[in-house]
Amino acid sequence: MLLNDKVAIVTGGGSGIGEATSDRFAREGAAVVVADLRMRKAEAVATRINENGGHAIAVEVDVSIPESVAALVDTTVSQMGRLDVMFNNAGTLRPGTVVELDVDDWDLVMGVNVRSVYLGGKYAIPVMLDSGGGSIINTASISGLHGDGGAVSYAASKAAVINLTRAMSTDHAADGIRVNAICPGTIETPPVQRMMADPAALQANLRAHAVGRLGRPEEIANVAAWLASEEASFVTGEAVVVDGGLRAQSPLGRLADPRPEHLR
Ligand SMILES: NC(=O)c1ccc[n+]([C@@H]2O[C@H](COP(=O)([O-])OP(=O)(O)OC[C@H]3O[C@@H](n4cnc5c(N)ncnc54)[C@H](O)[C@@H]3O)[C@@H](O)[C@H]2O)c1
Repeated sequence: MLLNDKVAIVTGGGSGIGEATSDRFAREGAAVVVADLRMRKAEAVATRINENGGHAIAVEVDVSIPESVAALVDTTVSQMGRLDVMFNNAGTLRPGTVVELDVDDWDLVMGVNVRSVYLGGKYAIPVMLDSGGGSIINTASISGLHGDGGAVSYAASKAAVINLTRAMSTDHAADGIRVNAICPGTIETPPVQRMMADPAALQANLRAHAVGRLGRPEEIANVAAWLASEEASFVTGEAVVVDGGLRAQSPLGRLADPRPEHLR
C-alpha cells in the first residue's frame, strides 16, 4: 500500500474529487481526516471508510478561515498523532466577467481557493516538520493555465494556486516537504454534472477532451495518491495536468478533423 501508516487531511473531502481521494487514501493504508464545510457529507464519507475497514474521522472546516484551519490541524494531531499529507482540495466557483462579478464573490473565490492553500501550508508545515517531512497537494485546474472567460476569479485563483505551489515547494524542499498541484480537466463531480445538464455544454466539453469523455474523480485520486506517496519522492513544485488530452489539442483541431468521414 502506498500510504501505510500515513495521516492525511483531505479538504473538500465530502464530495467529488475529495471524496474519491479520501476513499483512495484510506485504501492505500492512510488514516484520513475528511474535512469539509458540509459536515454531513464529510461524516458520510468517514463512516463509509470505517465500515470498509479503513480509519477516518470527519472534521468541519471552513478552509478560508485561519482559526478553522488551525483547529483542523490541531484535531488531526490530537486524534491521529501526526500529519503527513495535506490535500488542499476544497474549492468554489462564481461565474462572471470582471464587470459582472460582485466584489464579495471575488473575495469568496480567492478565500476558498487561494487563502486556503496559504492557510493549509501555514498550519500543516510546522506539524509535518515534527515527523520529518510530508507531502502537500493543491487542487488547481486547467483554468489556471489559460485565459478562458466567464469565471475570472476562478481562473485567477487557480493560476495563483499553481505559483503558490511552486513558491511553497522552494521554501520547504530542504525540510523534506514536497508541494505539488494537480490541474484537472473537466471531472464528473456534482457541480459539473449540474453544468453538463445543458447539452451544448456537455458537447463542447466532450470535444475539448481528446479522449472524448469527461474525467472521473477517481482519475484525480490516482494522481493524488501517487503524489502523496514515496513513489513521487523526487517530484516537487510541479503542476501535474490530468486533462484527457485537452491541452494537447488546438482549438482548430477540436473543430475540424481533416480525415474523410469513413476514417473518423
Ligand atoms: N470538477 C472539475 O471539473 C474540476 C476541474 C478542475 C478543478 N476542480 C477543483 O477540484 C476541487 C474539488 O472540486 P469538485 O469538482 O470535487 O467539487 P465538489 O463540489 O464535488 O467538492 C468540493 C467540496 O468542497 C467543499 N467546500 C466548499 N467550500 C469550502 C470551504 N470554504 N471550506 C471547506 N470545504 C469547502 C464543498 O462542501 C464540497 O464538498 C476544487 O478545488 C475545484 O476547483 C474541479
